[in-house]
Amino acid sequence: MTGPIELADPLLTANQIQSRVRSLADDINGTFANSGRRLSVIVVLKGACFFAIDLLRHLTLDVQVDFLRASSYLGAGSTGEVRLLYDITMAIAGTDVLLVEDIVDTGLTATWLRRHLAGRSPASVHLVTLLDKPSGRRVDVNIDWSGFTIPDEFVVGYGLDYDEAFRNLPGVYVAREVQE
Ligand code: IMP
Repeated sequence: MTGPIELADPLLTANQIQSRVRSLADDINGTFANSGRRLSVIVVLKGACFFAIDLLRHLTLDVQVDFLRASSYLGAGSTGEVRLLYDITMAIAGTDVLLVEDIVDTGLTATWLRRHLAGRSPASVHLVTLLDKPSGRRVDVNIDWSGFTIPDEFVVGYGLDYDEAFRNLPGVYVAREVQE
């Protein structure tokens, strides 16, 4: 997509998202409740920050939080390359890591980041993504928790953008090019 776009009805409403976020947090709380280790929540900017903050509000664990920024996307088509624009500064050795993604499409970013974080000697690395778009997959990626599986559409809202717009929408919408 390059030209003007329009948004249809929400694919996911704010209420649907918030109730799913709550149940993901319950599952994550259950998994790590008795780990005896701190949970390092690593948020992939910019898209995952809305999801991560809402999720964090429901985590009842001993957590530490840091952010990194990776890029594998140009407009609405994947370049197939992953670049780390900035990295975490927090020590994660010996902790359980929870990588928080907005969407897994080709799987390249999540696979690359899992490997990158595993290189810092954490006790474990888990991945939670709000959205999973399996139709776009180019590499197999191990997703521990996924909020919603979505069809092969470009979506915006709740952190996801189209050329930096629409991140602030509380729901998720399919974006389509305006037909002349
Ligand atoms: P992957 O490496 O192809 O799995 O892509 C992951 C990144 O691509 C996400 O973190 C998003 O920034 C971006 N992305 C993939 N699909 C969409 C979409 O439908 N809308 C907005 N961004 C997307």
